[in-house]
Amino acid sequence: MCGIVGYIGNQNSQGILVEGLKKLEYRGYDSAGIAVFTKEGLQVVKAQGRMANLESRLEATPLTGSAGIGHTRWATHGKPSDENSHPHTDESKKFSVVHNGIVENYLDLKEELIAGGCHFTSETDTEVISHLIAREYNGDIVKAVQKAITFMRGAFALGVLTEYEPDKLVAVRQASPLIIGLGEGENFIGSDIPALLEYTRNVYILNDGEMAVLTRDAVELMTIEGNFISREMITVDWDAVTAEKGGYEHFMLKEIHEQPKAYRDTMRGRTNAEGNKVILPELNLTEEQIKNIRNIQIVACGTAYNAGLVGRNLIESLVRIPVENDIASEYRYRSPIVTPETLVIVVSQSGETADTLAALREGQANGAHVLAITNVVGSSIAREANSVLVTLAGPEIAVASTKAYTSQLIAFTLLGLYLAEVRDTQSEPEVAKILAAMQSLPEQVEVILAQKDAIKAYAEQIAEHHHLFFIGRGVDYAVAQEGSLKLKEISYIHSEAYAAGELKHGTLALIEEGVPVIALATQESVLEKTVSNIKEVKARGAHVLAVTHEEHKNDLLRSVDEVFVIPQTLPLLTSALSVVTLQLLAYYASLALGHDVDKPRNLAKSVTVE
Ligand code: F6R
Repeated sequence: MCGIVGYIGNQNSQGILVEGLKKLEYRGYDSAGIAVFTKEGLQVVKAQGRMANLESRLEATPLTGSAGIGHTRWATHGKPSDENSHPHTDESKKFSVVHNGIVENYLDLKEELIAGGCHFTSETDTEVISHLIAREYNGDIVKAVQKAITFMRGAFALGVLTEYEPDKLVAVRQASPLIIGLGEGENFIGSDIPALLEYTRNVYILNDGEMAVLTRDAVELMTIEGNFISREMITVDWDAVTAEKGGYEHFMLKEIHEQPKAYRDTMRGRTNAEGNKVILPELNLTEEQIKNIRNIQIVACGTAYNAGLVGRNLIESLVRIPVENDIASEYRYRSPIVTPETLVIVVSQSGETADTLAALREGQANGAHVLAITNVVGSSIAREANSVLVTLAGPEIAVASTKAYTSQLIAFTLLGLYLAEVRDTQSEPEVAKILAAMQSLPEQVEVILAQKDAIKAYAEQIAEHHHLFFIGRGVDYAVAQEGSLKLKEISYIHSEAYAAGELKHGTLALIEEGVPVIALATQESVLEKTVSNIKEVKARGAHVLAVTHEEHKNDLLRSVDEVFVIPQTLPLLTSALSVVTLQLLAYYASLALGHDVDKPRNLAKSVTVE
């Protein structure tokens, strides 16, 4: 977790560091801070809380200097506080460090450093790094950093400055993301591309076990052992505006509205001209390997896990291969049965989620081919997977995932169709029919977006409740789980998602007068059964909203209190529409309650700790 930035050039660094950190606030917002070489030496200003707190401190005590590092924190070791904020320094205050990750053996190192006479001022694992570097410094900062990290276990992306060598910024990547931005007479580091976009599009992506030494005019790349390496520069084609709010009140609302584009982009170039075949050259598997797949395991966290639930439904019905879903943090510890005939699919918007990365490695260690569905090219997961299916949702800034989730659904559909083609489980006309229906999804999302006033009005009603339930069967149950997670994470209303038929086995006891129940009823084959379950909750006083197709609206209105309709599509594709209603519902409920929609409490966008 956490975001880091760094600058060395000819401009005043404070503004550049602050602007970069604002772009990284989604990685954590417990505190922020910067260190800058000023005429008086290396000076640090930091503050608990949001960037605004840091900015007001900097207004009172601005830092002037053309090299600096910055950090935005998501607390792991030590509570959110000024003291625990980064940058951290050593005792002499000559060395300053920003860190994203966890030093697993920091307690042992801390004991050793204290025994050697060091005094600590924070509870963080990071502070050991600054003391270690200071201890190892012998006139060469690069060597001191290299030596210090030989003592450290865990994950770290680092930015390091020392007053002794003010013309150098040292950056290290070991299992936490780090990007180097290349400018004219200036160079940058950042945890992620949006932090750098305003200044440069030319980047090097560091691999694990690599470091960079930045001066104003050059960047040297090397392994952490000190062997020089060369790397191809990547030119990023995202524009800065893409990473901004684009006129919407919140990133989440903007990202919900970007879904039609995300669907089109994720489908683009992945079908043949006739529209009856999916083409996925990025799936690095031979036809024979695909035919030999005996089982699939989809592993992910949170919303990406929920996308995998829909993925299972899609793949099992299209390809008839057994699919299991696993929560990434559980996967390794349940000793999963993985063979070389298992296809492991890891799903991750950020491509940096620690548990998902560990699951990927677990799959590979057992001989499985691991396919990553991710939104970030160049992320750790994308780089380590055997194949990568990139979702082209563009940068997702709001903590609550929306367009990344729906792009994952599109990716799963394409994947299912492709596997079905190779294994001959769907006829060409059937594939063509599904692809044609997929082409209509972007416009159909627009139809749902146009209902936002009605959804807002309903959201304002549910915002007055403390508990609510989502129910559905089959793929509707999978979408219900995402709807429930979305609502919980940004509105803080307690909600649970239930398979509609399961409610009566216990949870029905919680239904009382006025409790809102949101019933997803898009699946023709189980519609009558879902209606029976709706009647069960209605009979106990629930206030029921149904999400269904236009053609069932009138029928359902006989059993429920309100209905939102989604445009007609194939049963296999309803999730890509019904979830949009639920995203808007969560958004407006959060808004009605006055919460910070884009940055819900206790959460961060990219979870790089286990
Ligand atoms: C919720 C949300 C999280 C993420 C989860 C995995 O809206 O975004 O549940 O889905 O933390 O993150 P990624 O997809 O980056 O691996």
